[in-house]
Amino acid sequence: MSVTTDIEGHVARITLDNPDKRNAFDDIIIASLTEAFEKVGDDDSVRVVVLQAAGKHFSAGADLNWMRAMGKLDAQQNQQDALRLAALMQAIDQCAKPVIARVQGAAFGGALGLICAADMAVAADNARFCLSEVKLGIVPAVISPYVVRAMGPRQANRYFMTAEVIAADRAQQIGIVHDVVSEDALDSAVDALVQSLLSGGPLAQVETRALIARVSDGAIDDAMLNDTAALIARLRTGEEGQEGLSAFLEKRKPNWI
Ligand code: COA
Repeated sequence: MSVTTDIEGHVARITLDNPDKRNAFDDIIIASLTEAFEKVGDDDSVRVVVLQAAGKHFSAGADLNWMRAMGKLDAQQNQQDALRLAALMQAIDQCAKPVIARVQGAAFGGALGLICAADMAVAADNARFCLSEVKLGIVPAVISPYVVRAMGPRQANRYFMTAEVIAADRAQQIGIVHDVVSEDALDSAVDALVQSLLSGGPLAQVETRALIARVSDGAIDDAMLNDTAALIARLRTGEEGQEGLSAFLEKRKPNWI
């Protein structure tokens, strides 16, 4: 199995498990990963998802044998196939549960898409990143919305065009990952994020992500003020909001903990 899902307590771990090919992903792995994210999103017992990878490296990105083969399909099939990779990125970005990427070793090409589509990412200090596509005569196309969102267009100009290898500390500075820790502290750093996420309201967390996407894109105009006001008005009258506010005032834990 190249993709496995393990659920323990409220945490689902989706693992890329094809280390012989450095966890490169082809159409079959893309379909399995997409399905895994959809499944955990629909699973009421799951509160947090960790995307991780077996072996020394997180992922060498798209399988280049598959990339080359897809380039020989007819235009419609080629487009449909590329859309399936775009759908995987979207499935991570829109997963109904918060997603943490756990990164070690190399994360090249499409792997940056997986990481930047996740809500947060933690890397070992041995991690290194590379948008290597231009060296292959292609571009980081379907991953670009997520990678540019993470690093911003100016950094993207540089790293998309140079395909330089980005060290872990630099990746943290430019927003690819949130934290960098020693390799043996990686699991505890991920667990700390898991624990923080478990203390928050599940609905509030997913609404928060959608809110951030909306306010990042739009002008701060009346429509935005109305939208943000409507959101807080809705959530504070909802069951989860009422429970969270009451729990604080009654000095007890909310019922989602
Ligand atoms: N697609 C298909 N196969 C890949 C691959 C990819 N993206 N990346 C690595 N592999 C294969 C290699 O061909 C090799 O196969 P082999 O054992 O049959 O010869 C095997 O995985 C191991 O690769 P190797 O380069 O020896 O591993 P490494 O540990 O020395 O280096 C990387 C790891 C990730 C730095 C290196 O494999 C690499 O640069 N890969 C290309 C990454 C890339 O540019 N991806 C962009 C995708 S758009």
